[in-house]
Amino acid sequence: MVKGVDHVGIAVRSIDEARQFYEALGLEVESIEEVKSEGVRVAMIPLGALRIELLEPLEDDSPVGRFLTKRGPGIHHICLASSDVQADSEGLRASGVSVLRDRPTLGAGGHLVQFIHPKSAGGVLYELAQESAELED
Ligand code: CO
Repeated sequence: MVKGVDHVGIAVRSIDEARQFYEALGLEVESIEEVKSEGVRVAMIPLGALRIELLEPLEDDSPVGRFLTKRGPGIHHICLASSDVQADSEGLRASGVSVLRDRPTLGAGGHLVQFIHPKSAGGVLYELAQESAELED
């Protein structure tokens, strides 16, 4: 079940350059990590109950690299917090919604994640993410 917005993912060419805008707003980068399986470097910036996720491609031929080539920097996806990504994926599939992966995978921050195809969601790429703490329950 989805229970809120976890973060907004923004595609950037350079985290080092993009972070300056957020720091000018008084926000702070909490963590930076590489998610090699996604070909991306990720910076998380807490903002109230949400986070801004800056996505910098590690190579041009990666999902975020191809997005930047096609559309330039900007909003890449909206991530919804889920209490059970596996159950939500199966429920969506049963409703005819296309999800991008056969099964959820590990993403930034050790979250279990799935993506919903934009063609099933009005042109918006949605991510579903489940905190790793909830996986241990
Ligand atoms: Co994300």
